[in-house]
Amino acid sequence: MGAFNIPVIVGSTRRGRQTPKVARFIQRRLAERDGIESDLLDLAQYDFPIMEERLRQRDDPPPGLTEFSERIAGADALVIVTPEYNSGYPGVLKNALDHLLPEYRRKPVGIISVSAGPWGGLSALTQLRQVVLSLGALPIPAKFPVRQVQSSFDEEGETEDPAYEKSAERFIDELLWYTEALAARRALDSG
Ligand SMILES: Cc1cc2nc3c(=O)[nH]c(=O)nc-3n(C[C@H](O)[C@H](O)[C@H](O)COP(=O)(O)O)c2cc1C
Repeated sequence: MGAFNIPVIVGSTRRGRQTPKVARFIQRRLAERDGIESDLLDLAQYDFPIMEERLRQRDDPPPGLTEFSERIAGADALVIVTPEYNSGYPGVLKNALDHLLPEYRRKPVGIISVSAGPWGGLSALTQLRQVVLSLGALPIPAKFPVRQVQSSFDEEGETEDPAYEKSAERFIDELLWYTEALAARRALDSG
């Protein structure tokens, strides 16, 4: 079996956004593991328009959507890094996710929530789990809430807080467990 492909979705497009710092951190920690390939899927770079119809119902896909679909379809698992806005996930993330459906099926999804406050965006994380289930994917039980992101991570996505390093280890271990389990089951289907 080749390396597992686990892209990281950057769920914030805000000017001056902080979420990419955490996305870079987890992407690097994933890619450092043997047997994992990981890169960033940055919604700010895709710049999808408001969803008019799912990709599979359209013959005029917006720029980037077919490539985004192929990246999700080719993934063994996903990490979504979401900011918390007004106790939820941002509309731009939901808009992007809603363009696709079969691409997510039976894939484990790890959610990292990012907030400027002391609670780590747990409301956004909990709500996004419901959405992930509706997409046919499997939110993993591990949580990864990031508090006070403006001071806990630098621009390069590094942190001096050992608790985040520990959380990342546990989070990736768990994501990998589900990724391996589901890949083994999928291999049975493909004979
Ligand atoms: C519209 C808006 C609403 C927000 N609501 C919350 C919130 O409910 N709880 C919270 O902890 N932080 C909230 N924040 C702060 C964000 O969590 C903060 O900006 C953080 O850096 C992550 O988002 P970013 O990637 O846009 O920077 C809000 C920010 C914005 C722009």
